[in-house]
Amino acid sequence: MRFELKERDGLARICILETKHAKIETPALLPVINPNKILIEPKELKRLFNLKILITNSYIIYRSDRLREDALERGIHELLDFDGAIMTDSGTFQSYVYGDIDIDPLEIVDFQRRIGSDIGTILDLFVTPDDSYPKARKKVKETLKRARESLRIRGEMILSCPIQGGLYDDLRSYCAREISGMDCEVTPIGGVVPLMENQRYAELVKVIISSRMHLSPSKVVHLFGAGHPIIFPIAIALGVDLLDSASYAKYARDDRMIFPWGTEKLQDLKELPCNCPVCARTDVKDLLEMEKEERERRLALHNLYVCFSEIRRIKNAIRDGEIWEIVEEKASQNPMLMDALRELRDERIKEWLERFENLSKRSALFYRNTHTLHRPVIYRYQRRLLERYVPRSREVVFMEEVEKPYGKVYRKVWEGSSSEILVDSPIGPVPLPLDEMYPIAQSVFPRSMDEESKSSAEELKRKLLERFGMKPIKRPRKGKRDLDIDRIRYTLDMQFGRGVSDVLLDGEIDLVKSKTTGKIRNVYLDGRHILSMRAHDGFFTLKIEGARILHNFYSPPRFRVIIEDEAIDFVRKGRNVFSRFVVDCDSRLRPFDECLIVSKDDDLIAVGRTLLNREEMLAFEYGVAVKTREVLK
Ligand code: GUN
Ligand code: ZN
Repeated sequence: MRFELKERDGLARICILETKHAKIETPALLPVINPNKILIEPKELKRLFNLKILITNSYIIYRSDRLREDALERGIHELLDFDGAIMTDSGTFQSYVYGDIDIDPLEIVDFQRRIGSDIGTILDLFVTPDDSYPKARKKVKETLKRARESLRIRGEMILSCPIQGGLYDDLRSYCAREISGMDCEVTPIGGVVPLMENQRYAELVKVIISSRMHLSPSKVVHLFGAGHPIIFPIAIALGVDLLDSASYAKYARDDRMIFPWGTEKLQDLKELPCNCPVCARTDVKDLLEMEKEERERRLALHNLYVCFSEIRRIKNAIRDGEIWEIVEEKASQNPMLMDALRELRDERIKEWLERFENLSKRSALFYRNTHTLHRPVIYRYQRRLLERYVPRSREVVFMEEVEKPYGKVYRKVWEGSSSEILVDSPIGPVPLPLDEMYPIAQSVFPRSMDEESKSSAEELKRKLLERFGMKPIKRPRKGKRDLDIDRIRYTLDMQFGRGVSDVLLDGEIDLVKSKTTGKIRNVYLDGRHILSMRAHDGFFTLKIEGARILHNFYSPPRFRVIIEDEAIDFVRKGRNVFSRFVVDCDSRLRPFDECLIVSKDDDLIAVGRTLLNREEMLAFEYGVAVKTREVLK
């Protein structure tokens, strides 16, 4: 199996998953096909939705003489008349619903292999949210034992080993760590259907996190039973790749329609608030008067149209760096989801999310609700300010927020002052020279902020004053400073660490500025081009001459991506660094950071930009880890 990360927004990622029958772009929603009651033919799903992968249940097939013989003879793809990828489940869910089922855990895995399933699932033990701790632990142990045994007999089949553990954080983590070390490719998060059915989203989020945090990034993560679009964004934002939906059919049976914001009963609607091919050609009255069977089919189709279109919308958001905007938008539509987002304010979780967070995004950050201030990228700004900021004076003047970029309005004040000028922004104090750095200039907040957000900005201000022993004064003291040089200094320290500006600017500095915008373009040190500033996010790209200085200044592994000897010649030709050639790298590198590509002997080969963080570079077997920009000649 090939699994490769292509694009990302933090933990949310667009990957290519290749099985025997299909090349699937994830995140993907797998419609559940009940082999006993096929509501919409898989072939029809392929035609309508370009469906590449579906999920069905091998236990249902196994238990019926007719289906079993047919599947063994012709294979599952012929049985369902579908030539895409087929994932099969094992009967675990049936045992949860109907009590113990009579099947051997290895026999059902072998059966899935024999009928040609692309992705088979072990017979894990469903831990319910109210199982006691000893009971949950016993089920986890048994699930792990079955996973190990199943792996020995899986043959060519991709194996999916679910993570159980109920609501017990330590059991989930333990189970995830154990399964992460096994040779299975797909790791679903199991036992969560009761949480979703009862909208217990805060607990659901905790469960996803305690599992996901301990899984290798190269595992394909599936969320079992996640069929409603209200939870797609948060699940995907926490690193889920596959979702499956029986809801589209189940809801249709009860005359319920799925919408992006929730579910509505058909009878309660006067109008159809949807323009999918089903809704566009009919109305509520027509649907209600239809034969039950026809109505069920149409509602199921509508439900799928809505779900697939939501997945596509989320994929756009990942590409545009807007996953949190959709997550927060959904939370505004559902109070339980709002509570779930509160779980993400935990310091340990913020640290985890920050490790995967892109350095910057293409689009502006839009305020949605009080959670916005807790996004990983804002958390990073606040932490880096405390860790990397080097104030030039202890005397500080706080200025009120003005139109962005602040430097345009306050330029004169800065240039005529020897004091630090900090702008009171919604995300906390902003030193004037950082005003063009993402997300400061590239964020949009309402003029009137809520009290909760205001107090978090105040708290950062307090910490900052304390950390640097700064003293607020009313009016700036007279002096003379150069905003351009300060902009370069402050940005360098924030981007590359405290004190980096001292070495990178140690000599004669020349600037090239844009004729149209006046923004800094290129930075020269003693005649050598060392840095370029990106107009859209205000960060630097490193030129190879700049990389040399950084390489001399920092000892390994800081800013390094160390590559295998066999990859050196490729990279020297300007090719990208693939994950499987990464020996190790600096754990402080974030996605889209500038990095030094070096040999095992720490010879500088090239400079590039990461796509992955360290955990990911070491885990992925396929795909690009670093985009090479410039090679050392
Ligand atoms: N379907 C819904 N939940 C589960 C689960 O926990 N395990 C398996 N195998 N299938 C499921
Ligand atoms: Zn519709």
